[in-house]
Amino acid sequence: MARLINGKEISKQIKDELKEEVSGLKEQGVQICLAVIQVGSDPASSVYVNNKKKACAYIGIDSRSYELPEDTGEEELVNLVESLNEDESVNGILVQLPLPAHINEDRIIRTISPDKDVDGFHPVSVGRLWLGEKGFQSCTPAGIIQLLKRSGVQIEGRECVIVGRSNIVGKPMAALLLRENGTVTVTHSRTKDLREVTKRADILIVAIGKKQFITAEYVKKGAAVIDVGIHRDENNHLCGDVDFDSVEPVASAITPVPGGVGPMTIAMLMDNCVESVRGREGSQ
Ligand code: GUN
Repeated sequence: MARLINGKEISKQIKDELKEEVSGLKEQGVQICLAVIQVGSDPASSVYVNNKKKACAYIGIDSRSYELPEDTGEEELVNLVESLNEDESVNGILVQLPLPAHINEDRIIRTISPDKDVDGFHPVSVGRLWLGEKGFQSCTPAGIIQLLKRSGVQIEGRECVIVGRSNIVGKPMAALLLRENGTVTVTHSRTKDLREVTKRADILIVAIGKKQFITAEYVKKGAAVIDVGIHRDENNHLCGDVDFDSVEPVASAITPVPGGVGPMTIAMLMDNCVESVRGREGSQ
């Protein structure tokens, strides 16, 4: 029987700590503001954006919303981001992805000032992460580190295997585990004998985007298993990249879907918003 790593509870803990910190900052005259930009009205994006705005309200961060039509031009979006870069009352800028196909996502990400890049997607943020410098960390991997630490899973010196090499999860996850002195392997679609590699993991992080792909045969007895995937199964229930029923008896700790990694992403976005003003107390 594996211990359940409760992301809902841990994310609530983090948000409550941030709420406290934000209230202290307010007393010193520091108010945080996040600008949230959505282009078009993709329903999934609208849900994410609303949840981000709700989290801001809970913690005491102002959110400023920009809901732009689907046919917004790339130059127009670049101009908006540039004006928010200049706006001293804005601390963080979040452009919800995906953007409509006629807009170059990379160009927009690179337009956001690295000092306001609360998603941690800008190449400067990525560089700082790999160099071990202070900066914004990609939210989902940062949330996974918190899940592991706060549920007592030791990272230092342990074999950490990541399945999936995306820019948003797999790659920054590798940098963060390395910072915590884990021994890190990143696997991907060209990995030979994936099972042989995942079987070595003390900590297995799965971000592959394939429904219930990882079964017990991929997991060493006693491993901690973190599932980043989110899908619907044949009964329309939410499920992950990990076949929970198969893996749970083998693992020592495991994240459920939903209620595992999902809630952590927004908590860490909020942490990045607070990070944007840390150390500024008394300077205003
Ligand atoms: N779309 C899906 N996940 C994310 C995220 O973490 N940040 C942004 N900006 N867009 C997303």
